[in-house]
Amino acid sequence: MSDLPFTFNLPLPHVVPSRVDNHIERRLSAMRGQFLDEAAYQEMLAQDDRLIYEVYEVKRPEVSGEFLMGVSIVHPGKVGSEFFMTKGHFHQVLATAEVYYCLRGEGYMVMETPEGEACVEALIPGSVLYVPPRWAHRSVCTSRLEDLVTFFAYPAEAGHDYGTIEQQGFRKLVVEGADGIQIVDNPRWKVD
Ligand SMILES: [Fe+2]
Repeated sequence: MSDLPFTFNLPLPHVVPSRVDNHIERRLSAMRGQFLDEAAYQEMLAQDDRLIYEVYEVKRPEVSGEFLMGVSIVHPGKVGSEFFMTKGHFHQVLATAEVYYCLRGEGYMVMETPEGEACVEALIPGSVLYVPPRWAHRSVCTSRLEDLVTFFAYPAEAGHDYGTIEQQGFRKLVVEGADGIQIVDNPRWKVD
């Protein structure tokens, strides 16, 4: 891998980076147990293994001092009343931060610490979100029509811990209620 400086573009409207080393697609079948409404999940899965989100990664050596960058695209949709979202993760090296820059769409970043402190921040085009060290994070697309597209950068040694979140989800859920978009407590969530 070259150590020369490089430039890439995020051309509108699709915002796929002009330099891509890896493309990840996460479908509904990869999100088993993540959505609260299991019956709605099974019903949707039986019809179509929908594409929920994609990540385009720009690779660098996964060592301290480097950054990993990419673009995350969460597609619009809901399972029951819960909006489509990413799996969400802690970083394996917990004390590493991440920066997100929202390029398109509308949504939220749902976050929490291992101690159970929770925070939900809105994302609209132009939002820059700083996720401090130790905060797990999940993006949620709340637009009915448009993808939620964010550019991200984080320390290359961070790694991903998906398992902790898979056990009980995040403390907060983003759902469509009678009065529109609502942030509600996750009834499955508890502090060990
Ligand atoms: Fe991350």
